[in-house]
Amino acid sequence: MAVSNASPPFVSEPRSEHHEHQKAKIGLFSERYKDKFKALPKEKGWMGENLYMYQGFWYRSNNAHALSVETNAHALSIETTMAMQDSLQSHSTDIYLITQPKSGTTWVKSLMFATVNRAKYKTNSLSTHPLLISNPHNCVPFIEQEFISKTPTYVQESSPRLFSTHLPYTSLPQSILDAGCRLVYLCRNPKDVMVSWFYFSNKFTHINLSPMTMEEMFEVFTKGMVPYGPYWDHVKEYYKASCEHPTKILFLTFEVHKMDTSNQVKRLAEFMGYPFTKFEETEGVVEEIVRLCSLENLKEVNKHGNYREGVPNDVFFRKGEVGGWRNDLTPEMSQILDDITKEKFQGLDISF
Ligand code: A3P
Repeated sequence: MAVSNASPPFVSEPRSEHHEHQKAKIGLFSERYKDKFKALPKEKGWMGENLYMYQGFWYRSNNAHALSVETNAHALSIETTMAMQDSLQSHSTDIYLITQPKSGTTWVKSLMFATVNRAKYKTNSLSTHPLLISNPHNCVPFIEQEFISKTPTYVQESSPRLFSTHLPYTSLPQSILDAGCRLVYLCRNPKDVMVSWFYFSNKFTHINLSPMTMEEMFEVFTKGMVPYGPYWDHVKEYYKASCEHPTKILFLTFEVHKMDTSNQVKRLAEFMGYPFTKFEETEGVVEEIVRLCSLENLKEVNKHGNYREGVPNDVFFRKGEVGGWRNDLTPEMSQILDDITKEKFQGLDISF
């Protein structure tokens, strides 16, 4: 079964009304934060867009042409971040998946969703499982998208509420930290992240992003100038925070997830407070979840339809390999990225 034009499963109002509401909210934030926004350093880089430096990281803005509220109710912007910092309300039971874009967000969203909801949606009644009819990004929404929704999941009763974000640790809304939400942080080899960014972003030239060559992507990535970059600072902040708060922040890598998916799913389940019983393990429930969330399966389910206007479901699924960068980076590029990584992660136990 494949996803049709997927509207968020948790949103009951008509899609157009929902979008109008989102656009209105985004417009409101742009107006409210315009003075704060004007003072921020900006630079043209990634996909020909201006990125804005806020609290040490680069962000997109609602004012950027591709994020125009007329064409696309995209919430992942600096203005929404500022609004969430001012008024997001969190529950202690909320669980977040946090990543740099292109680190495997979509995959781990599906694993978290399938694990937490395994009693509700038995994986053996496959035709009705939400992951077989909807994009994982609808099952575990970005908090930014929820924040601007008319009927957000986050005011509903379901517990735990699963969200995701790309926000750096420094800029997380204080309410997430004060409430003691559990945070799962997933990172990936920067070389694979960069290559994944390249293929992903070049699919959006139809919504006014300028195409980039691999060399240009390399240049902006190494300077840290991609949305939510610099990559290294993002990872470093969460790594350190996970060492300080190991019961609240779980630090994972894409590479270990690929190598040892079942054990990583068990680890994830335990951390989220949904450990598998011995009976479930012997019944093969973990393996069923791994299969349900496999790249092959999700790719098939998401081969049609759009996640949002201008964003097809299939753009989130490509090769999903460890070390795929070898096909795309020159030895010089690889060496430079290795050198930056070595220097930035010096003294930290992070390896890919
Ligand atoms: P590649 O472009 O290297 O193939 P994100 O979800 O953070 O945007 O990351 C996208 C990357 O995760 C893409 O990597 C994509 O192919 C990979 N991916 C998506 N679903 C996956 C899955 N079920 N298993 C492994 N990798 C997956």
